[in-house]
Amino acid sequence: MVLEAIRYDRGNLQILDQLKLPHAEVYDDINTSGDAWEAIKHMRTRGAPAIAIVAALSLAVELLIADIPPTAGDTAAFVYDRLDYLVTSRPTAVNLADAVRKLKAVVDAEVAKVKADGNGDSIREAYIAAAEKMLVDDVRDNEAIGKHGAEWIQKNTEFGQNGQVSVITHCNTGSLATAGYGTALGVIRALHSAGTLKHAFCTETRPYNQGSRLTAFELVHDKIPATLVTDSMAAALLKLKGPSERIAAIVVGADRVAANGDTANKIGTYSLAILAKFHGVKFLVAAPRTTIDLQTKSGADIVIEERPGNEVTLVKGPKWVAVLDEVDLSSSETIKIAASGIDVWNPAFDVTPAELIDGIITEVGVVEKDKNGEFQLQNVFQGLTNG
Ligand code: MRU
Repeated sequence: MVLEAIRYDRGNLQILDQLKLPHAEVYDDINTSGDAWEAIKHMRTRGAPAIAIVAALSLAVELLIADIPPTAGDTAAFVYDRLDYLVTSRPTAVNLADAVRKLKAVVDAEVAKVKADGNGDSIREAYIAAAEKMLVDDVRDNEAIGKHGAEWIQKNTEFGQNGQVSVITHCNTGSLATAGYGTALGVIRALHSAGTLKHAFCTETRPYNQGSRLTAFELVHDKIPATLVTDSMAAALLKLKGPSERIAAIVVGADRVAANGDTANKIGTYSLAILAKFHGVKFLVAAPRTTIDLQTKSGADIVIEERPGNEVTLVKGPKWVAVLDEVDLSSSETIKIAASGIDVWNPAFDVTPAELIDGIITEVGVVEKDKNGEFQLQNVFQGLTNG
């Protein structure tokens, strides 16, 4: 069975509640943009591409049931209002803002055709078709990212030249974080299906230990040979020399890639990039072009989301029934794992400077730095790469 974070057919949208994984697979209905905003804010659905698609599709569903005055102008105003609201759910990933901009452009083009006092049905139809296309395009793009990334690693890493490679991944970038297949996890999937993956290591990753709860869940689900390590074990892992542990590359996702290649991704990515440089291991970012933000010049301009401190001080999960030696999925408990009264800093992302990144894997190919040591990311929008 394929893992699906998003289930959609016209008029119906469901998300897999990622706060309940790995204990239970529960799908929640999303009928309105308000439902989607809540689900995104509270991380029941997460991952830059998935957030954008859930937001876009929630409004596609709402448009079929909402009571809007019938003109094109009123429908367009409703869509604008809901999109402006959705974009406030989480700040760092650019995919949602990118989707909102594109969806508004679709609506504008349709209003120009039918005029503001024309029939609103064509606005609904154009919006829904554009949102549905985003779902389909994301899977196609991720498969292409997987293929380009796997080929690049095989060609450009020391161990890849001998056949199989071991890689480390951080964050949550698979089917659960996208419309399907995944970005960095898509590269691991592609290596695995080509028979060229020796072993994958995934880090625990905060917030909510997304690596151990979500990435590990996908790796186990897809029977990909994998080991979980805590974030603080990465340096020790990079020193190991056993046949499975010799790491050829670290592959991560991205929430926003600035024009110069600086990359905002899950907290802890920056540390891994420094470790990769020290150990002479390739460091790759896998992201669709919807994650590249040419309007943001460098990482210094990226807003980093800070999450509540209790995500660090508390753990929540199903109750362990010691007598029966089993997990009781019907009841959950919250356990404090930090000293009461301690102050907490909990940024969800950090920024890895471009100088630490060897390549940015997109759906049109891998971008490497030019002879001046700079990424020319504008070229990917013409379908051009140099890697
Ligand atoms: O905070 P999240 O769970 O929404 O962030 C998900 C990630 O870990 C990112 O790395 C991801 O968006 C990269 S793209 C699949």
